[in-house]
Amino acid sequence: MTYRGISALGRLLFALELACLRPLVPPGPGPRLEVGVGSGRFAAALGLEVSLDPARAPLRLAAGRAVAVVQGAGEQLPFGDGTFAGVVFVVTLCFADDPAALLGEARRILALSGRLLAGVVPLDSAWGRRYEAQGRAGHPFYQSARFLTLAEHRRMLTGAGLTITGAYSTLTQAPSGEPVEEEAHDGAVPGAGFVALQARP
Ligand SMILES: C[S@@+](CC[C@H](N)C(=O)[O-])C[C@H]1O[C@@H](n2cnc3c(N)ncnc32)[C@H](O)[C@@H]1O
Repeated sequence: MTYRGISALGRLLFALELACLRPLVPPGPGPRLEVGVGSGRFAAALGLEVSLDPARAPLRLAAGRAVAVVQGAGEQLPFGDGTFAGVVFVVTLCFADDPAALLGEARRILALSGRLLAGVVPLDSAWGRRYEAQGRAGHPFYQSARFLTLAEHRRMLTGAGLTITGAYSTLTQAPSGEPVEEEAHDGAVPGAGFVALQARP
């Protein structure tokens, strides 16, 4: 079983989520970092310069996608204060033991003019509830995830000293039907299965 990997559904979800993230990608100049880069598919498609992940195997894939990689944990980023123009998380906060610590570190390394972008699967969506149920049933990836509601994500961002500046949403369709193409919606749509939240220090 894969993490939404190579299936037609996985490809469609990737395309929809990418379209949702694109309008809010932190602009350069200056390096932008994806924390929890995995295989690097989002970092490469979004043109991010640097990436980090604790896991060695996916980092090799990310490096193959011409994304500079660093092995490390989001709780202790090996970068100086205010050194990044952007920090991006894509479905990573729910896999971290202490997501608030990751946001605190992201805030620390962001320049004052920088932007944070977090792509999340809210628990208060049919998609979030489905992944959570799959995790409870022993799904090899989702069993280690802890999904949060949209309001909890907002509170965590502001708790880290960040101000939310924008949102886009996708997957307003139910996960049970045949998945279809969908435009990204400007704003945080209640019940959407994927929401991109942009914030600044
Ligand atoms: C679901 S994957 C997402 C990967 C990639 N962002 C994507 O969407 O294709 C979650 C990633 O978060 C990473 N991760 C888990 N805990 C982390 C932590 N404490 N700091 C940084 N990354 C972490 C995992 O190793 C994994 O690669």
